[in-house]
Amino acid sequence: MPNELIRNTDDILNMLDALMREPVLFWDKFYSDRSKKVPFFINHPDENLVSYLDSGHVQVGKVLEVGCGPGRNAIYLAQKGFTVDAVDISEEAIRWAQDRVNEHNVDVNFQCISLFELQAVEEYDFVYDSGCLHHIWPHRRIEYIEMLNKALKPGGYFGLSCFAPGFAEIGGALDTTDWEVYRERNMKGGQAYSEEQLKILFQDYFDCVEYRVMTECSESEEKFGVPFLGTSLWRKK
Ligand SMILES: C[S@@+](CC[C@H](N)C(=O)[O-])C[C@H]1O[C@@H](n2cnc3c(N)ncnc32)[C@H](O)[C@@H]1O
Repeated sequence: MPNELIRNTDDILNMLDALMREPVLFWDKFYSDRSKKVPFFINHPDENLVSYLDSGHVQVGKVLEVGCGPGRNAIYLAQKGFTVDAVDISEEAIRWAQDRVNEHNVDVNFQCISLFELQAVEEYDFVYDSGCLHHIWPHRRIEYIEMLNKALKPGGYFGLSCFAPGFAEIGGALDTTDWEVYRERNMKGGQAYSEEQLKILFQDYFDCVEYRVMTECSESEEKFGVPFLGTSLWRKK
């Protein structure tokens, strides 16, 4: 019989987890059909990630990708010479990422674990998240930000792509509030974050280097770009 007595903050967080969708089963099912028409199933890196390297803001070093999915950004970073650790909670995603790595003959350390299990301390020059934060329940966001801050070296960079508000009609997320997520017990496909909200959430740990909407890209450009994501680059204080 589960112990349902709330004694501390962890008990509250665990109770909230239990009220919401179980993520591992969801994502394993999501990736079980690789031929599905999902925009980010193409094997090209985010256009903003490419721009961070091209502009020289992010330089070759040790990188962690959280919620790496089938590995497109991790593989790009490895091809550019980074030492890459990449984690995802879905075994299906990691299996697919490993298949892609084998085809590309690059080295990426993929691990099937939750980002909340990471224990890295000031280990990384760069942490990247494309589309993971907007699937993290709001009650786990503080822990997510603390993990980022702990994992990055002082002055390290954090790159993020996540749903921007106002684009539901063209495939983005419905605008919602944190409280609404719990009233509905549902994030309806992901949570949108405005530039202002991100700046409030990260203000204690990170300075904003850049925020912009992602630039739409065609497949021939060999970059991933859809107009309903916000992209941002942050520097650890
Ligand atoms: C929208 S997908 C993006 C995948 C990949 N970053 C891409 O853009 O191709 C979000 C990913 O976050 C992963 N994820 C969700 N919660 C996670 C957690 N707590 N720890 C690690 N990965 C997580 C999911 O399994 C999923 O692969």
